Amino acid sequence: MKILAKQFGAAPKAEAIALALFEKEDIAKNPLFRLLPNNVQALVKKFISGGGFSGKESETKVLPIFETSLKKIILLGRGDKQKWHRRKALLIPRRVIQTAKQERVKTIATHLDMLGDNSEAHSSARDITTNMLMAYFEYRRKVMPKDGWPEVKEVTLLCEKKDAKAATEGIREGNIIGEETNETRILSNTPGGEMTPATLADAARRAGKKHGVRVTIFDEKKMKALGFGGVLGVGKGSDIPPCFIVMEYRHGGKQKPLVLVGKGVTFDTGGLNLKPSEGIYEMHLDMSGGAAVIHAVSAIARLKLPLNVVGLVPAVENMPSGSSYHPGDLLKTYSGKTIEVLNTDAEGRVILADALAYAKKFNPLLVVDIATLTGAAMGALGQRVSALFTQNQKLEKIFRELGTQSGDEMWPLPLWDEYDADIQATFGDIANIAKTKYGGAITAASFLKQFVDGYPWVHLDIAPTMTTIESQHLAKGASGVGVRFFVELAKHIVKNGISV
Ligand code: BES
Ligand code: ZN
Ligand code: ZN
Repeated sequence: MKILAKQFGAAPKAEAIALALFEKEDIAKNPLFRLLPNNVQALVKKFISGGGFSGKESETKVLPIFETSLKKIILLGRGDKQKWHRRKALLIPRRVIQTAKQERVKTIATHLDMLGDNSEAHSSARDITTNMLMAYFEYRRKVMPKDGWPEVKEVTLLCEKKDAKAATEGIREGNIIGEETNETRILSNTPGGEMTPATLADAARRAGKKHGVRVTIFDEKKMKALGFGGVLGVGKGSDIPPCFIVMEYRHGGKQKPLVLVGKGVTFDTGGLNLKPSEGIYEMHLDMSGGAAVIHAVSAIARLKLPLNVVGLVPAVENMPSGSSYHPGDLLKTYSGKTIEVLNTDAEGRVILADALAYAKKFNPLLVVDIATLTGAAMGALGQRVSALFTQNQKLEKIFRELGTQSGDEMWPLPLWDEYDADIQATFGDIANIAKTKYGGAITAASFLKQFVDGYPWVHLDIAPTMTTIESQHLAKGASGVGVRFFVELAKHIVKNGISV
């Protein structure tokens, strides 16, 4: 799918025109509408005045046009202008593509200001492109139907002459972010039988080679030498050995790096504390944080952002077997602290313990971990927003704003030291589950906090947003959460630095 920007001029040559409108908005003022032939304009006006379309939120109408090369007008309701916000805006480009696919439209023209938020041409074009690519994506492993898969070949974004250049640049950026988000979704959606720690490492190697990022993989031997008892402990039950992926993008001179840490559990059975049948089939997605880190680093490299970024992904399969780690095991981590394993299904925090402690080695500016860590985060927030944990008020504010801006929304939960009491161990230093059954997302975050060594840190629990939900106008499966946010964060750091 190719997206391009063009200035308003002659009537666009496309099979379909998509127009997004607020309730009561006068379509006659829309510059794209005004390019249409008079008879088509009259037809659309008649359709609207006859009650065919009112601009209600999420109302989508397709109006067939006969006897012209223009075959369809797609009208998309934006609802009440006063109630408009960013989350709704980013759905518009997705709705356009979803409708084009359903209608089997191959070429489409639409307007650059479809987001309805007066944002500038560059960012509008970027966000439209990213979200169109996300909506176009499907993870398919089926036989192709006789008439092929729906294919959208070209989308033209019409804009004012003065905006065309910025829009073209925005499209370039949006393509990179959208492609890397979809690459993340491919890795995540890959079934557990095919996605192993080795496969994930290969994906990182390939991405590194393609985009000029240095990739180092620690094997079991290296991890033993380093003392990564957490990763090695969780990995014991699997026939496939764990590994530890390090990606280094250096484009910021001597500045301290942004370190991204992603949970890479390629399948989470729960281990000896085996998960019940409900939900286990989705646990191939438990490496979504790791996939997001791999492709966020790739996106940042492709955008050539002038900063240093390090990606760390402990990759492991959590399996029950004769060689599995046991409830009650005491694992010595890279930090020197021991973890008392009281539940083998709380494995994510165990592998992240090594990664967070190892992050210190890079003298980080900021460490952000991203993990499908707890079902409890979903219990607290539902499936529309990730959980955000930090003790730093400034970072909390920045992350929330960048989350909204990027579309990867996040909402804070407390990380008070009082919660530390809940993860006290008997024989080891820290227990991997809490004494209480309440506040599981918070106690998991408190556990991670024990391995953070003096640097600014934010934890993102993306279990809530791991998969798409229907109202998001995306294909079922992995959402690709994290990539859009990390690019936005990297750009923020380049522009403003991080003062904490
Ligand atoms: N990978 C899961 C968390 C998860 C659950 C992610 C559902 C996405 C959807 C994690 O490893 C886990 O099993 N956590 C346990 C922790 C418990 C044993 C303290 C959980 O959330 O139940
Ligand atoms: Zn688990
Ligand atoms: Zn897990």
